[in-house]
Amino acid sequence: MKLAIRGDVLTFQADPFLSSSSEALWFQRDMLVLLEEGHITAMQAASDLLPTLSPDIEIHHYPGQLILPGFIDSHVHYPQTEMIAAPGKQLIDWLQNYTFVSEQGFADIEHAQEVAERFITEQLRHGVTSSCVFGTVHPASIEALFKVAAQYDLRLMAGKVCMDRHAPAALLDTPRQAYEDSLALIQRWHGRGRAEYVITPRFAPTSSPEQLEMLGSLAQQFPQVLIQSHISENPAEIAWAQSLFPDCRDYASIYHRYGLLRPRAIYGHGIHLSEAELELLYATGTSLAHCPSSNFFLGSGCFDIQRARRCVHSVKVGLGTDLGAGTSFSMLQTMGEAYKAAQFHGYPLTAPQAFYLATRGAAEALGIADKVGSVAVGMEADLAIINMHSTALIDFRMRYARDLNEALFIQMMLADDRAISATYVAGKRCYHATAA
Ligand code: GUN
Ligand code: ZN
Repeated sequence: MKLAIRGDVLTFQADPFLSSSSEALWFQRDMLVLLEEGHITAMQAASDLLPTLSPDIEIHHYPGQLILPGFIDSHVHYPQTEMIAAPGKQLIDWLQNYTFVSEQGFADIEHAQEVAERFITEQLRHGVTSSCVFGTVHPASIEALFKVAAQYDLRLMAGKVCMDRHAPAALLDTPRQAYEDSLALIQRWHGRGRAEYVITPRFAPTSSPEQLEMLGSLAQQFPQVLIQSHISENPAEIAWAQSLFPDCRDYASIYHRYGLLRPRAIYGHGIHLSEAELELLYATGTSLAHCPSSNFFLGSGCFDIQRARRCVHSVKVGLGTDLGAGTSFSMLQTMGEAYKAAQFHGYPLTAPQAFYLATRGAAEALGIADKVGSVAVGMEADLAIINMHSTALIDFRMRYARDLNEALFIQMMLADDRAISATYVAGKRCYHATAA
């Protein structure tokens, strides 16, 4: 089936951290984007392309709205959908009192199925078309998620959490079981449709050296498979990790020792990394997921994005919600929080930089930029349509927007799910806002 989408296209042709915004951002009004068999097959000015289209092609017209690459959430925990906004102290307390309680419910497959459906539905309502997701320790939690994602043909990356210590007994696996369950999930799901498996040690404090070693050898067996975990989020967590691995120079070296730093390995947070750790991430091609709403919620600190994305030895960074420590599914709201985190370090994040982190930048960090994250011919047809006037206040404020950068900035500071007019996945409209 052929479908064409008409509106104003915004995408990236370069990295706005390493080149100027005007070089990086590509924006054209009134474009027509042709979608066929899950891909973008043509993109031209509507006035040029329309006369050439056969009359049976359906056209979805969004006058004055933005056609963006679908948002990519580079770090999120789907089982925590049920415990978003759980009040706690900081990371360790919150994990023990809420997260490890909720995650036990995923021994029940029906429960996992229900939460997976709610999670994907929310993502689509928020224009999120790809994400890198943590399950629970139960392999069935990932089965449930991949099954729901397959119904929409989503490019979804996910892994069963591995942890064999420092959590309730009901949530522990063993080094061997973690290896075997992860291997079985790779064999069953990796590369099936658009699903990708992610090797997922929760973080160093909940994995024994033996477990990290087994997962490192699994990673070596599958050099193309993603790896995800957490690093350097909270001072108490860092001290804990160091005390458990006293022979390692620092937190990053723990993962490095077990072969878990490499291209397509992505670590949440990295707020308190030393210079030597950042250099190690850069040298190994490892990425970071910046999760500002979570960092504010748990009082973890403020990630210094300019330090990580410096011109020399720049570490790849994607934006993540880290829900349920993150407080929203909305990547627009998460961009707003990223702006505030940067302000704490004394500089502003520009709107093009923020939109990049949530689209092409996240795709680069996850190693999927050849497939998604841009609106361009040959890319998979995952798109989000943004209404730039989604509330009365935004509509009013937009009257005074001086240019595109300011209009985008208004969206990332003030907009939320109400701005998402429609979400397209693999060329099909999976979500369409109904008029209020
Ligand atoms: N570190 C280890 N597990 C978690 C988790 O579930 N959420 C966050 N924010 N940090 C973690
Ligand atoms: Zn996380």
